[in-house]
Amino acid sequence: MFNKRIKVKELLLSDKTNYEATVMGWVRTFRNNQFIALNDGSTNNNIQVVAELGKFDDAILKRITTGACIKATGEIIASLGKGQKVELKATSIEILGDSDAEKFPLQPKKHSLEFLREIAHMRFRTNTFGAVFRVRHTLAFAVHKFFHDRGFVYMHTPIITASDAEGAGEMFRVTTLPLDGTAPKLEDGSINFKEDFFGRSTNLTVSGQLEGELAAMAFSDIYTFGPTFRAENSNTTRHLAEFWMIEPEVAFNDLEDNMNLAEDFIKFIIRFAIDNNKEDLEFLAQRLEEEEKQKPQAERSEMGLMEKLLFVVNNDFERLTYTEAIDILKESNHNKKKKFQYIVDKWGVDLQSEHERYLVEKHFKKPVILTNYPKEIKAFYMRQNDDGKTVAAMDILAPGIGEIVGGSQREERQDKLLERMKEIHIPAEELDWYLDTRRFGACPHAGFGLGFERLVQFVTGMTNIRDVIPFPRYPKSASF
Ligand code: 4AD
Ligand code: MG
Repeated sequence: MFNKRIKVKELLLSDKTNYEATVMGWVRTFRNNQFIALNDGSTNNNIQVVAELGKFDDAILKRITTGACIKATGEIIASLGKGQKVELKATSIEILGDSDAEKFPLQPKKHSLEFLREIAHMRFRTNTFGAVFRVRHTLAFAVHKFFHDRGFVYMHTPIITASDAEGAGEMFRVTTLPLDGTAPKLEDGSINFKEDFFGRSTNLTVSGQLEGELAAMAFSDIYTFGPTFRAENSNTTRHLAEFWMIEPEVAFNDLEDNMNLAEDFIKFIIRFAIDNNKEDLEFLAQRLEEEEKQKPQAERSEMGLMEKLLFVVNNDFERLTYTEAIDILKESNHNKKKKFQYIVDKWGVDLQSEHERYLVEKHFKKPVILTNYPKEIKAFYMRQNDDGKTVAAMDILAPGIGEIVGGSQREERQDKLLERMKEIHIPAEELDWYLDTRRFGACPHAGFGLGFERLVQFVTGMTNIRDVIPFPRYPKSASF
């Protein structure tokens, strides 16, 4: 067997010495023609491989360059150098893959995140992205653990669909028809999608919720965790065109149960990351602290990353209604002094991210759950409240991010649902299958969607969402 190696993380955890080991990995630096800092991605810490002077051919030494992949065998000994307990005194070094030092884009120095985004296929090999993507993994694992432990069924909802779950029209079309003008047309000149691959017009899903609701009407508790797609032209640090969403849907839950589930869920996964990825989070906290130092005092956050995460885990989220939030915003000095780009002057306006962030970061200084929004600014499936104006919606807002969760109790009453769909021109025929859940054994139920990348942003402290997904898709960018 070729791969009889010990992972670097495992080696560094123990202070055992005087035994033979093989390591494999990528060279970070090679100092004094003697000291190799080797990394295999299991941790940000490198193992020092010592190639004693005079013991290795010049031909080999020349090929130990930054980025090269090597296999080294030797004795694990106590290290004299500082920063590590053990090192490997090499008896053999094999070059598995050369790396032309002149052309390798990652130099042993600090690169900007913007530059690294351009070489996203290489950025996994940096400390920052090593830490970010190990934490992302842990969070994904924690998502499954949380729901599995509570008896939820993981449901794979379709990626190609014919419906617009959010009714917002931000969809990417899926078609095999030609784009050169020769696609089959109807008499009125529009495209005849009956001739298309699926015999109808289809798109990439914006949410798995509607299919999730069908499953919840059989299993009671389900969740989805998959990619979703939005063709919204938002060039912000919080929007992607392709992002991953977790959508639990629970029969017999009302809005309050839904809030409790979401709050428990967020706290559980953050706690899981703190317990299982402490080293990476501490590295990211340090990184953030240095980044913060570049900012003017007034813009710096009051808490460090670890402090912030522990605060969120250990404190209740603030819960209030949309109406209460509007009153706070209207009365705020920020609003009176016209410091908001969008002035809050009346009930009914949609909240902008500047308003969400004001509530979370300036007013309450903790995560906030806003409920009971005006029905006009929310999706058709949300349960209508008795006041005739609001729906049983809930959004969770997180410091530094804004909206991280969107959810609601669902309108289970068929007549009310049909009435709302009619009002906003959603053809009932298109969602006939969805309406069956209201025809056959309907029950109160609720669910929410958590944007996975926004959660990863929150936990890692990365300011741009493009830096927490391996290969980001956003307007005018789909490289790799
Ligand atoms: O609020 P949204 O649009 O809600 C839904 O899609 C519902 N079907 C969820 C449900 O009730 N099952 O999206 C949910 C979350 C947002 O709160 C946000 O965190 C994230 O998805 N999100 C995005 N993340 C990155 N880029 C985008 N363009 C996003 N749009 C939404
Ligand atoms: Mg939303």
